[in-house]
Parts: sequence; structure tokens; C-alpha cells
Amino acid sequence: MRLSKILVAIMLVVFCCISISISRELSVQSPDGTLTATFLLNNGIPYYIITRETDVIIKPSRMGFDLKDNKALRDNFSLESSTRSSFDRTWTQPWGETKTIRNHYNELTVQLRQQDAQQRSLDIIFRVFDDGIGFRYHFPEQAALDSFAIMDELTEFKFMNNHSLWWIPAYRDNRYEYLFSKSLLNEIDTVHTPLTMKTGKGLYICLHEANLTDYAGMTLFDNGKNSLGCDLVPWSDGVKVRASAPFDTPWRTIQIADSPAGLITSQLILNLNEPCKIEDISWIKPGKYVGIWWGMHLGKYTWAYGSRHGATTKNVKRYVDFAARHGFSGVLVEGWNLGWDGNWFEHGERFNFTTPYPDFHMEELSRYAQDKNVELIGHHETGAAIDNYERQMEDAFAFYQQHGINIVKTGYVSTRANKTEWHHGQFMVQHYRNVVETAAKYHIMLDVHEPIKDTGIRRTYPNMMTREGARGQEYNAWSQDGGNPPDHLTILPFTRMLAGPFDYTPGIFDLYFDEYKPDNRVNHTLAKELAIYVVIYSPLQMAADLPENYENQPAFKFIADVPVDWEETHVIHARIGDYVTIARKDRHSADWYIGSVSDENPRLLKTRLDFLEPKQTYVAEIYADAVDADWKDNPLAIEIKKKLVDHKTDIMLKLAPGGGQAIRIRPASADDIRIYQPY
Ligand code: NOJ
Repeated sequence: MRLSKILVAIMLVVFCCISISISRELSVQSPDGTLTATFLLNNGIPYYIITRETDVIIKPSRMGFDLKDNKALRDNFSLESSTRSSFDRTWTQPWGETKTIRNHYNELTVQLRQQDAQQRSLDIIFRVFDDGIGFRYHFPEQAALDSFAIMDELTEFKFMNNHSLWWIPAYRDNRYEYLFSKSLLNEIDTVHTPLTMKTGKGLYICLHEANLTDYAGMTLFDNGKNSLGCDLVPWSDGVKVRASAPFDTPWRTIQIADSPAGLITSQLILNLNEPCKIEDISWIKPGKYVGIWWGMHLGKYTWAYGSRHGATTKNVKRYVDFAARHGFSGVLVEGWNLGWDGNWFEHGERFNFTTPYPDFHMEELSRYAQDKNVELIGHHETGAAIDNYERQMEDAFAFYQQHGINIVKTGYVSTRANKTEWHHGQFMVQHYRNVVETAAKYHIMLDVHEPIKDTGIRRTYPNMMTREGARGQEYNAWSQDGGNPPDHLTILPFTRMLAGPFDYTPGIFDLYFDEYKPDNRVNHTLAKELAIYVVIYSPLQMAADLPENYENQPAFKFIADVPVDWEETHVIHARIGDYVTIARKDRHSADWYIGSVSDENPRLLKTRLDFLEPKQTYVAEIYADAVDADWKDNPLAIEIKKKLVDHKTDIMLKLAPGGGQAIRIRPASADDIRIYQPY
């Protein structure tokens, strides 16, 4: 008997003796044999257990549901049958952090039936991968369960110890836009996922969900005794989920790695989503953009009509010219349509998505942009007035399609949708999905701000490009708490980014912007601002600053060069909240890029470039913090140099306090080899 089996057996004996009962148990292992999910029916109550080799990761934890006006699906079950299967296939991402992904798992489905007159049935499906576990509930079609309302999902995650967690709070007015805190499990209240934790034995675990389609978002709360409970974000009437059988819940995901890097490279969430449902994806293309955006956050321009209106025909042309000159494919235009005057975030119902302000000429601008091989990026700020938006949505996307626009940024600024619903309950999950599907009909890609968290649906709908769902750059422009602190970007890759792409909107060069906002600033160095393009993945990546701030800036070349679609991703250094270094290979050339960011401390990080092709000499174009750079007093000091490197070169990343480094590595020409010195 393997040790893990002995362990589960001992645990079961202890567990079952306590509750003196009849129990049934079934296990399924990961393809490499390290992870085991065990389903246990004890006294009619369903539980699951997760072990990793000899470690118990999750102790017997309850499963099931409380229903409205209906008996609970929490106990009195018998195990009717079970099925097993295995799957191993490699698929190609249309765009992403890596080109190919292996989807390799063993599956166990248990069919349960309640032992009463109604005989209701419930299935639980476990998929065990080498990098973690997913499980979901399936409500089969059945006479005794037609339409139903879930009042509680009883899923628990009972850990062995009081682990350290990185978390943001749930049920707050600013949705997911909070700084991460680190604390022990028993110190949290209710938090969002992805929820990343470190065990006393140095394992890293992330709890999240995959394929959130028609359900409430899951938050987690301290359930006592090192246990987290599942708390579904309710509708305004208290119901958690309205459903009718047959019905599938999202997958509950548990990613497990022995290093923080292993969480970043895990593909579990995407693998638990369904394959692409859009037949022709030739219109879906990642890209880089500039836009009429930062100027509004700084107060230079307004969204509203008036003397400082940003989205004027003249100003948009200036941005289009800039984009064309520097090779950007898109120009985002916010504030072009009626509805921004006055207190727009309280009056989303005033937005009109097909009527421009008088000083914005859509026909002229779309022609102008097309002539320059640039596309305008549309914007639908809804103020979370969902009824108003849904009434106009088809027309709004058709309007953009007619004008050759195939990327739209959406926004839901407000504390409640339709002034009543949380952004993360089933009502909004349905809405966000409706938007993705409608946009696809009009061949439109999406960048969603104030979104539902990412649960990997980009696999099924690859027009769902990127989203916000965290504190991004804009907080540096106006947040009263002083903006994002230097460690923010050293936590995001291990937390928010495990869900999927983030439209952080990097690229601010004027880090102080005193002319507009003397009390705010960006709290890190210029080199770190460049490194974000590699560290924080987004298939639509913005150069967010005012175009005038890029004039005569040699460092701007990095932003012009850096791709947004990658063949491979390697995590080189990873310590949550301290530093992270990521290397990625361009999908369309032989170039590699490295981004490294530190918190408020300086770092000296050694990196062997052993991922490069042997026998090839490369030029490393290095954008490093200058020796005297420091995020507080000298953030703009950057040193740009070129050195010859190959796969045996060890490079030293010297990061200033609050600093970073960005490197492009490209094959060297004969001239390069003559001109540049070895590293
Ligand atoms: C908040 C978004 O995050 C930001 O990017 C946008 O400019 C404003 N809302 C206005 O829609």
C-alpha cells in the first residue's frame, strides 16, 4: 500500500470512529501519482479529502447544498455508482502566456441518491491533475428537482494548520480593487478568490474556481478550526443561485505547488474550461494600444463635454498619428458618447452607446484611423446600469462593428449593479457572459473593467481578452491612500494573475505628474514600469501615458518592442510580496523578454539564460535601474545598455528599492557581434 493510501486510511478510521457510522470511500490520483482526491460518504454525508504524497492537504471536508423551500442536499445520501476516466490531450491557445497546454487528468464521478421518498440525485466530479484538483457538482435532470434555488453551498476546505494567506476582502464597495493583505487563516473575515496560501511545510496552495458560467461568484470565510467555508455572493433577495436541472456548478479549484513559481505556470483553470466555442477566430488578435484615458484620470481632460473634453476629433487624430508612428494597433477613446455629464457613476441610465458628443466625428475618425492602419478601441461605461445597457447592447456593438471597431472596453463603475445587485453574484455573472457572447456575434474583443473575476472562460470565448478586477495604474493617479505601494506588483502575479490576464495599463513615464496631481505619484522606478509588460500578462497591453511624455525617451523603445503574445513562460525568481522575475519567448520571433520587479527593497538576482538556444549569440537590450535609482527619491534614473549573451551567460539583475528591470534578448547580427561587448 502506498504511503498516501495508508495516510488516508488512518484518517478515515479516526474520522469514521468519531462519528460511528457506515462509510464508503473512493479515491482518484493525479497522472504522476502525487495528488489524491478521496470521496467519502460517511453516515450519508458527502466529504472529500486531498493528499499530496504523504501530506494531508485538506482533511475530510463537507460538500452539498441548502435549498430554498426544499429539503437540503447535504445528507441522507447513498452512493449509487461511480465512473472513472482519464484524459490526455494537448491544445493550442489562440493567444496567451504559452502556446500549447497539456490537459492531463484522471477523473472520478460519484453518483449520489438521497434515501427518502423523493430520491433526488446529485453527482460530484473530481478531476485530478499533476498541478491540482478541480471538483464540481452536477444536478442531473430528475422529476423531483426541476427549478430550484440554492441558499448555500456547503463546500468546505479544512486545512491541517492555520496557513498564511494573501487576500483581498469581499463585500466591499470597490469590488476587487483592494490592496492584498497577508495574515493567518483565522484572522480573515470573508475574502475573494484566487486565495493564495503558504503552508508551514512550504507548500503553496491557491483556491479559486473555473468556468463560472451561470452561478454566483464564490468567496471564502473563516469557518473556524483552520477551515474555510464557501460563501456564494447572493442576489439582493438573499437567494444565492437560481437554477434548473440539469445544471453544473463551476469547478472548485485547488492548485498545489512546492514553489510560488509553480502556481504561476499551472494551467489547471484553463484546462477546466470548455474548448473554444467560436468557430472563426481569425478576427481575434492581441495588440498594444494608447488612448484618451490617463489624461482624464489626471484631470487634464474630461470625459464630459466641455472645454477640456478629451475625446474630440482633433485630439483623437493626434493619438492615432502617435499610434501609427510607433506601431500601436489601437487607440482607446473614452468619453465620446452621451452620458458623462454630471455625476455619471450615479446615473448610468443616462449613457447612450450610439450617440457621440458633437465634437467627436465617428465616420471621419474611423476612416482616418483605418487609413493609418490603426483601429479605434471603443468604450462602453455603463455605470452598472445594466437594464439601460442591455436594452442598447446589440445596437451598441453593431454601431462599433459598422465603424470598423473590433475591441471594446466595458466598465461598471458603481457600488451595486442596477443599484441593487453585487457585481459578483449570479445576476452579474449572467450579464457579463451575455456581453461576451453578444460581442462575439459582432466580432468584438473585450477588455472588461469592474468585471467578474476571471475563471478561465477565455479558453471558450477567446474574444474575452483581458479585464481589470484589481487595483491598476489608475489608483496611482487619484487614490487618497497614495496609490499602489511598491510591493503590489510582487503580490499580484501569485494572486490576481492566477485567474487570468489583467489590463493594468502600465507605461507611465512621468512618474510624478506634478502638473496635474501634485499629491499623487507612481511608487516605483521607471525600469519597473517597463518590467510590468512582461510580469503582468495581458493580450491587450496599453502604453498609458500622455503621448507627449514619450517624446525623446529612449526607454520607450522597450514598450514599442515588447510583444503581447507568448510562446513560453518561465518563472525565474519568485517570492510572494518580495520579488518576481519572469522570462517569456515571443510567439512570432526568436526574441525573449525578461521582466523583474522588487518591493521596496533592493535586490541582486542572478539568472542563467539557459532557456536560450544553444549556439546562438544574442543581444540583450537592458533597461535597468541606474546605480543611484530609488523609488522614493530617484525613480527616473534608468540605464540602457546592450550586451552580447548566450545560453551560458549568468546575468545579475540589480534592482533598486522599488525597482525593476526589463530586458529584450534578440539574436545578434554580425554587426552586433562586432559592436557590443559580452555581458
Ligand atoms: C474605471 C476604469 O477602470 C477606468 O479605466 C475608466 O477610465 C473609468 N472607469 C471610466 O470608465
